[in-house]
Amino acid sequence: MLKIGILGGGQLGRMLLQAAANYPVETYVLENEDDCPAAHLCHHFTKGDIKDHDAVLAFGKGLDAITIEIENVNIEALEELESQGVKIFPKPSVLKTIKNKILQKEYYRDNQVPTAEFVVSDSKQYVSSMEHFLPFVQKKATGGYDGKGVQVIKDAKELDNAWDGPAVLEKKVNIEKEIAQLVAINEKGETALYPPVQMVFDPYLNLLDHQIAPADLNEKVLWKVEAISLAVVRNFRSPGIFAIEMFIDKQGDVLVNETAPRVHNSGHHTIEAHYSSQFDMLWRIMLGYPLGNTDAILPSIMVNIIGAEGCSGKVQYDGLAEVLSIENAFVHLYGKKETRPGRKMGHVTVLSKDKQELLHQSNKIKRTLFARSGTPSIQL
Ligand SMILES: Nc1ncnc2c1ncn2[C@@H]1O[C@H](COP(=O)(O)OP(=O)(O)O)[C@@H](O)[C@H]1O
Ligand SMILES: [Mg+2]
Repeated sequence: MLKIGILGGGQLGRMLLQAAANYPVETYVLENEDDCPAAHLCHHFTKGDIKDHDAVLAFGKGLDAITIEIENVNIEALEELESQGVKIFPKPSVLKTIKNKILQKEYYRDNQVPTAEFVVSDSKQYVSSMEHFLPFVQKKATGGYDGKGVQVIKDAKELDNAWDGPAVLEKKVNIEKEIAQLVAINEKGETALYPPVQMVFDPYLNLLDHQIAPADLNEKVLWKVEAISLAVVRNFRSPGIFAIEMFIDKQGDVLVNETAPRVHNSGHHTIEAHYSSQFDMLWRIMLGYPLGNTDAILPSIMVNIIGAEGCSGKVQYDGLAEVLSIENAFVHLYGKKETRPGRKMGHVTVLSKDKQELLHQSNKIKRTLFARSGTPSIQL
């Protein structure tokens, strides 16, 4: 039986392990937090820091393959393991490019992948000199996620809010739609594309509000999305699963925003709504089996269950029974003991042929299901 390790023990690792149970594979997880969402679903749990060179090296010794659920891992250790014959999905070279938003944007430019116009900035002082480039979006080179590390600078007054340190300044795009395209690529270079999904963001929390699959795109746009996605993935020369976030602008142009070289929030719906889920697909790739069927069984909507405002501490769920009574609603709780405002605690996917019905049910879920703590940290 192959031995495969996952760096990180959050919800992505947890769902990956749920899919692993169907395959002949022995699973390993490295994570600092010993009651993390993935800890109880793997065969072997190692407590340790995925950013620490020695911890990752020791974890990987003797494994056949390693994958990641987050990019912020020790890449040097993965390179050493790769040179010793451990397969890494995705390759460390891809992680290096993606982990740093400057290198990632340069990768798109160097490979003729359409992306928003950008300049590289090294300081707040440099940003102040870019008045002629307004309005733009400043993105920290490293460490950002879920909208943290990204800020819009609309006008000259806001130049003062700029962060110091290495960053990308990207022209603000007039976004019509945000979509994500999941692509699977195996070791032979064969690819499979899932239908793109539309992501709708909460303007206040800067988090995904809901996501609809398949996205409503005309044929010409869909064709561009697929061609661009394949170009992004093929030039990485690495097997794995890739989630490519893209903007469709008001002119119908397609621009790559960013790529995640791993299973992704935008693919959660594939668990119930598609024949082969993103998690199933990654095991097929790592274990050398044929790629799965990416077709949708039915259209779907997915909403994240986010820790309620003003609540920190031991979690309790309100409205769970009511949501479980919705036809074709699939609830996933990630097993996190503690809730915090904005923390991803779970998600719900609803399947239906009828798009209006999907929107109706997702609104109902958002009004009904809450992750709260017993005692609010702020008196409301
Ligand atoms: N160039 C841009 N123009 C307009 N909006 C943008 C631009 N870049 C990012 N955004 C908005 O900010 C969000 C977060 O940016 P993103 O680069 O995806 O960072 P993160 O790594 O936090 O997901 C995007 O989903 C989009 O809504
Ligand atoms: Mg993003």
